[in-house]
Amino acid sequence: MNSAIGLKVLAGKKLTDLPPAELAGALAAAEHVLVDVGTGDARTAYRQAVAHPEWLVIGVDPAWQRMTETAVRAARKPAKGGAPNLVLVNAAIETVPAPLHGIADAVTVLMPWGKLLRGIVSGESDVLAGLRAVAKPGTPLEVSIGTSIWRDPIPLEIRGLPELTPETVGSTGLADRMAEFGWQVTDVRLVPHTDLETISSSWARRLGSGATETVLHLRAVAVDPRETLRQDQAEPESGADGAGEPEREA
Ligand SMILES: C[S@@+](CC[C@H](N)C(=O)[O-])C[C@H]1O[C@@H](n2cnc3c(N)ncnc32)[C@H](O)[C@@H]1O
Repeated sequence: MNSAIGLKVLAGKKLTDLPPAELAGALAAAEHVLVDVGTGDARTAYRQAVAHPEWLVIGVDPAWQRMTETAVRAARKPAKGGAPNLVLVNAAIETVPAPLHGIADAVTVLMPWGKLLRGIVSGESDVLAGLRAVAKPGTPLEVSIGTSIWRDPIPLEIRGLPELTPETVGSTGLADRMAEFGWQVTDVRLVPHTDLETISSSWARRLGSGATETVLHLRAVAVDPRETLRQDQAEPESGADGAGEPEREA
């Protein structure tokens, strides 16, 4: 994985370099660090930051222009809706900057698209390694993907790949692939979006009132990739299968 060295963050409508000492201070002061990858307009990250002023919430997205409205709001005084504990980083997860390595107590990926979506659905090494790079050992990862994405028109990035379901996460080898990169899948289920407190309001805004969407919700925990490899070596049959690419539809 090629990591960017510095940290480009939003200060209002502009991109600026975040001095390492400033990040170190914010990390030291935080009780909990949440990294939201593919944060989009960053409204969900902003809500988390406001709800938990003792946390540091870091939104990561390469489409930094989409984050400006939230960045302007977050830069206000806290009494006027500001969120000094929200940092919005211009970066793609596969080249996540080194200052973000090993800092997260929780990682979320909500409604990914583009490279992030394909990377997760097909278990691409750069995306899985990038997600793992930001996490501390034991950190939970939550991925939520709306199942309507598998209905026409299916985005190009995932066309031809098998639909992710609680069954296919195992049968396509994705769970093994994630374990190879240090993510042990702990739970996969289909839930109504309203069950997912963190995201339900963003989702509701998109879908319109009263609409529901079934969401594939995958949880994993950051483990030592080498531990997984040792386990695989102890079970040569499953280890050989586990390292393979997920099956693709004919
Ligand atoms: C549908 S938006 C979701 C936004 C937000 N999570 C939400 O729920 O409102 C998907 C986001 O994934 C971002 N994305 C795509 N590829 C990415 C990558 N490689 N690394 C990080 N973010 C990526 C896109 O730029 C986009 O903003």
